[in-house]
Order: sequence, then C-alpha cells, then structure tokens
Amino acid sequence: MKRIVILISGRGSNMEALIAARDAGRLPVAIAAVISNRPDAGGLETAASAGIATAVLDHKAFASREAFDAALAECIDGYAPDLVVLAGFMRILSDGFVRHYEGRLINIHPSLLPSFPGLHTHRRALEEGVRIHGCTVHFVTPALDHGPVIIQAAVPVLDDDSEASLAARVLAQEHIVYPQAVRWFAEDRLRLVDCRVRLAGSAGDGAVLIAPGGA
Ligand code: GAR
Repeated sequence: MKRIVILISGRGSNMEALIAARDAGRLPVAIAAVISNRPDAGGLETAASAGIATAVLDHKAFASREAFDAALAECIDGYAPDLVVLAGFMRILSDGFVRHYEGRLINIHPSLLPSFPGLHTHRRALEEGVRIHGCTVHFVTPALDHGPVIIQAAVPVLDDDSEASLAARVLAQEHIVYPQAVRWFAEDRLRLVDCRVRLAGSAGDGAVLIAPGGA
C-alpha cells in the first residue's frame, strides 16, 4: 500500500476528507504523517485524534526558505512517503524542494488553473465576473500554483454569491476531487505524457464537469 504524507498550514478540511475517504475504504493509502509549518494549525488536532503521527516545523524558526525546505524534506523523508500531498500548505516552495519530489508532489488549489493562481481566488473570480469557477489538483512544478492538471471540478458562480458562499461551493468539490486524485495515484493510474496527465484505464475522451446546483 502506498504511503502518503500530508502537509497543512491551517484548518485541514482537505486533509480530513482524505482521512474520511481512507476510513470509508475509498482510499487505499497509509497516511504516514501530517506535517504543519504552523504550530497553531487546527488540522493538527484532527490528525492526532485520528491516530496519525503529526509534526510541526515552524518556518519562522529558519533563517531562509532553503533552510526551512531542507529541514522539511528531511522530516518528510523520515516517513518514506510515495506521495506528498499539499492540503492548504501555504508556502512558496524552493526549486530544490520541488525537484526532489518531482512526480510525487501534488497540490490542490481553489481555482480553475491557470486562472487565479495565488491568494484570494474567490474574491478575484467574483471581481472578474466569471460564470464558472472551481478547483484544481495538479502535480507541483517550481512555478506557484502551476503544473500538470490531474483533475478539476467546476461550479457555477451565482448572481448572489458572496466570497464565502462561493468558497463553500468550491470547497465541497475540493473534498471530492482530492481523494479521487490521490486514489488514482495509489492505483498507479497517473501517467505524465508530454507534461500532461493521462489516466490509465480510461478512454480519455470524456469530459467531466461537476456542477452541483448549476443549470
Ligand atoms: C483550500 O481551499 C485549498 O485549496 C487552499 O487552501 C485551502 C485550505 O483549506 N490552497 C491554496 O490556496 C494553495 N494555493 P483546508 O485547510 O481546509 O484544506
């Protein structure tokens, strides 16, 4: 069974979705550890009460990004994961770190990349007046919120949406697509061909649009 390490910075609801999928028998992985760069991340308690090993590496205690990333990699590698899962891990990662985990580092981002990389994605989607918003799971490359897309979920933007209501609609989809993406990895079904992700065992000619409540 493949081993994963989950990195968080905050409440950890995506991490919780992964734990729930594992517990329900829908995600055949061993969650070796949850690591946070913030000592006060709410998700740490959730992970510990699920019996998962936790570790904290406070980035403020390190003199440089490279020093933190080196310590983080050492901590991660101590758990010998097959896959490192960024679940609301709010750090820019150094090139060396990303290269070290090439092909085994994935991220979830709350927008339909390449639209709206970075912060405040829901606010910016509302400001731009887009009618479709969503989330993306992707392999990580050195550029921020960038890399071969594994799965995306789309939701409608409704006329009376606030930043909070749109965020909640997207988050519900994040909790579906992230376990799905990790499951495909665990089943060895993800292939990178010319910087694009192929899903082994699928025809690859069907479009998937998840749009709850949308017309
Ligand atoms: C999620 O919406 C995730 O997509 C986002 O942070 C939130 C974490 O929530 N990640 C990024 O913005 C990465 N660029 P969670 O802690 O409840 O999973």
